[in-house]
Amino acid sequence: PPQIFGDRLNSSGIAFGDSMALAELLEGMKQADLGKPELASVIGGRAVAGPQRRDLTSPVNRGAIATVAEGDEAIAAQAVDAAAEGFEEWNDTPVEARALALERAADLIEVNRNRLMAILAKEAGKNLEDGIAEIREAVDFCRYYAKEARRHFVPQPLPGPVGEENQLRLEGRGVFAAIAPWNFPLAIFMGQVTAALAAGNSVVAKPAEQTPWIAAEAVSILHEAGVPASACQLLLGDGAVGKAMLDHDRIAGVVFTGSTQTAKLIQRQLADKPGPILPLIAETGGVNAMVVDATALPEQVTDDVVASAFQSAGQRCSALRVLYIQEDVADGIIEMIKGRAQTMTMGDPALPTTDIGPIIDEEARAKLEDYAKSRKGLVWKGDPPEGGTFFAPHIFELAPDEILMEEHFGPVLHIKRFKAGALDKVLEEVRSTGYGLTFGIHTRITDVAQRLAEAAPAGNVYVNRNQIGAVVGSQPFGGMGLSGTGPKAGGPHYLLRFAEERVISTNT
Ligand code: NAD
Ligand code: ALA
Repeated sequence: PPQIFGDRLNSSGIAFGDSMALAELLEGMKQADLGKPELASVIGGRAVAGPQRRDLTSPVNRGAIATVAEGDEAIAAQAVDAAAEGFEEWNDTPVEARALALERAADLIEVNRNRLMAILAKEAGKNLEDGIAEIREAVDFCRYYAKEARRHFVPQPLPGPVGEENQLRLEGRGVFAAIAPWNFPLAIFMGQVTAALAAGNSVVAKPAEQTPWIAAEAVSILHEAGVPASACQLLLGDGAVGKAMLDHDRIAGVVFTGSTQTAKLIQRQLADKPGPILPLIAETGGVNAMVVDATALPEQVTDDVVASAFQSAGQRCSALRVLYIQEDVADGIIEMIKGRAQTMTMGDPALPTTDIGPIIDEEARAKLEDYAKSRKGLVWKGDPPEGGTFFAPHIFELAPDEILMEEHFGPVLHIKRFKAGALDKVLEEVRSTGYGLTFGIHTRITDVAQRLAEAAPAGNVYVNRNQIGAVVGSQPFGGMGLSGTGPKAGGPHYLLRFAEERVISTNT
């Protein structure tokens, strides 16, 4: 049954401790008839193949799993034209009908869970825990934005003098470009698209070039659920195709999740375009810290550090990158973290015993290798298996005067010791990175927890727990500074940024 949070419903996923449920998932994944699809952009409900074809390879074993006919500039323009044509009809569709379509999409994701999990494992290297969590999050986004649309997208009467009626209305802006990353290729992709649709926009959705397959499944589910083909286009291709899409004069807004560098490129491109000032919603990276003082519970710290740094092979924007640990307890806790990390199994993500899957592709793996080779202070590293693009967890200790300024997107944990009474210096160091996504605190002193939580330069602060896996509706997610523009995904203000606000004042 769904989990009930207040008046909300969040997807329950599956309980991995229940052997029947796990067996049913594994059997369902085996039975899923995945084949080797030919993927192409989907415009007006029809597949549109560009001239270039390439093999999509799996990070698990580097085998070809699909072919992709990527879009080009002309196809990008065609996709935006089609969405522009579909905008008015979708924006005029009553909010209840839009919300119902998104709720049907949520149901269809749940019905197709085993197949989607099999694709996530093959294409994105997601292990079962991460894949099921991602599917749950996609379901939650659909239901949450449906509910939020019902709340916001009704005319609101506003006060005025006798003889005057004032009414506030929210409407879609037009064609929203949705540009997604590969690391949450279903949840973030679906979250962007459903938020834009809930608000009455039509959408051109461009997934990351590494993960077109799961995105094609998601768009097919949306169409089956009742989102008209004219309201939601799928555009396949790399950054150049994304850039071409944004050049089109009918783009009315952009929702982007990915690197800070790309967000800035997009911001500049939008600013330089002729025409209106366009909104950009950007969710980007982080150099996320956790602070552990001498009163923290070592076992809890160990579990939370290992999960935050190494789960999903560290390929989460929320992942822990720098652990600040009070020097009095550092040696003991570092030994415990090493011991716990050693128990993690790397390998085929479709096996229930796998804790850590591969890195998304060879380029990303090579970057991590280069970084690991280039730096000093290795405390521990694991052994990667053969075959896929695996990179084992690494732990480095930073030099006393070193501040980590860049995100390294993989299972790489940095540790820095601090002296009792030096929490302000720690906060200053974290602030100096300019990022502000997640921040973890481990202490048993309530005042310290409160003081750090108030001062932490981060959009999402977690106390005495891990700092990953934000839950839609409960932990609206997003950062500050170099980590993003806000508003928070899965939060009560998100849809507003996708909407145009109009006020109609009538002298009665
Ligand atoms: P990326 O910036 O390389 O690519 C993201 C998307 O942007 C892809 O679809 C890509 O094709 C597209 N793109 C690239 N250049 C473009 C351009 N000039 N114009 C338009 N589109 C362009 O990022 P990535 O490597 O796919 O994702 C990893 C990054 O995403 C990490 O930095 C991670 O921290 C961040 N991330 C942030 C969040 C969050 O919610 N804050 C969530 C997940 C990932
Ligand atoms: N929302 C994802 C998390 O919290 C990125 O880990």
